[in-house]
Amino acid sequence: MRSAAALLVEDGAVCWTGASGAAPPADARLDVEGGCVVPGFVDSHTHLVFGGDRTAEFEARLAGEPYEAGGIRTTVAATRAASTDELRVRAQRLAAEALRSGTTTLEVKSGYGLTVEDELRCLQVAAELTPHVTLLGAHVVPADVPPTEYVSLVAGPMVDACAGVATGVDAFCEQGAFDVDQCREVLAAGAAQGLAVHVHANQLRHGGGVQLAAELGALSADHCTHLADDDVTALRDAGVAAVLVPAAEFSTGSAYAPARRLVDAGVTVALATDCNPGTSFTTSMPFVIALACRQQGLRPLEALRAATLGGAAALATDAGHLRVGAAADLVVLDAPSPTWLAYRAGVDLVRHVLRAGEVVR
Ligand code: NIG
Ligand code: FE
Repeated sequence: MRSAAALLVEDGAVCWTGASGAAPPADARLDVEGGCVVPGFVDSHTHLVFGGDRTAEFEARLAGEPYEAGGIRTTVAATRAASTDELRVRAQRLAAEALRSGTTTLEVKSGYGLTVEDELRCLQVAAELTPHVTLLGAHVVPADVPPTEYVSLVAGPMVDACAGVATGVDAFCEQGAFDVDQCREVLAAGAAQGLAVHVHANQLRHGGGVQLAAELGALSADHCTHLADDDVTALRDAGVAAVLVPAAEFSTGSAYAPARRLVDAGVTVALATDCNPGTSFTTSMPFVIALACRQQGLRPLEALRAATLGGAAALATDAGHLRVGAAADLVVLDAPSPTWLAYRAGVDLVRHVLRAGEVVR
């Protein structure tokens, strides 16, 4: 039998943990009898602000079409056509959905505007949802701008206009998107403005994105699906977190990133949803944890760690744990252990979500 534990919250933060028999008195009490308490999930990679959807593209993939970076332009057109209020309402709905499934810390990227004005308004919508906001102007080259001109726009006026709203900068380093030198130019410009660096790296094929992340001292290299051995050592040696997004691999029908290999090599691994209309239209961290356990070889507690502390490392923020002093962001699961997140995949096990000690579900 498991021993009963208790956690005391004061002013939104954890102020005591221990055996429930020894708990100090409290004004109010939430009995989670039979449940288990885990830190709120940290989703360190989403693209929540967008217009339209890509149902037809998904159906085509189910019929055998491969995923290509160019599909992003469909969402760019729909995002530009949407009013800021429409974008706000849709993004709020997705953020609320994420919170209901236990995500208490969220990163949101832009990347479907691709003009200074449209990227800025997407970032402003994102900033209403979360303090972790990332400029992804270098998502794909818009159809009507020559690549060299577009890279200069992103690295110059776009970074300058967005640096006051964004906390991070990202670039999609991939055939059909941006090469290593183009990404370096954009990311260095963002870093010079004090933005934390993230890279969409090695998603669709092997390339130089992971090495670039290491060279720039990025907080994270995201996707990391196609890795050579020297990519793994570069991540470890440079202290770059690998943000893995198995729901994207599920949706695109691609091979899964080598999570087991990364954890065994001592790389900090994070799990995230990558929520976006093209490759991963889910906000569910429990689903991501289930995939990581079943498809990527992580043990349940390793997956939970990656979905909490790992995500916090990728955002350089203090979250994803419940030690004394932490924000009381937590999830009560209708389950005897976190293993059930994978064992009972697809079942909503979230009984309660608390954010800063407030029951929000
Ligand atoms: O993380 N890889 C680039 N960006 C997204 C996909 C965007 C899209 O297809 O709309 C991703 O998978
Ligand atoms: Fe992404």
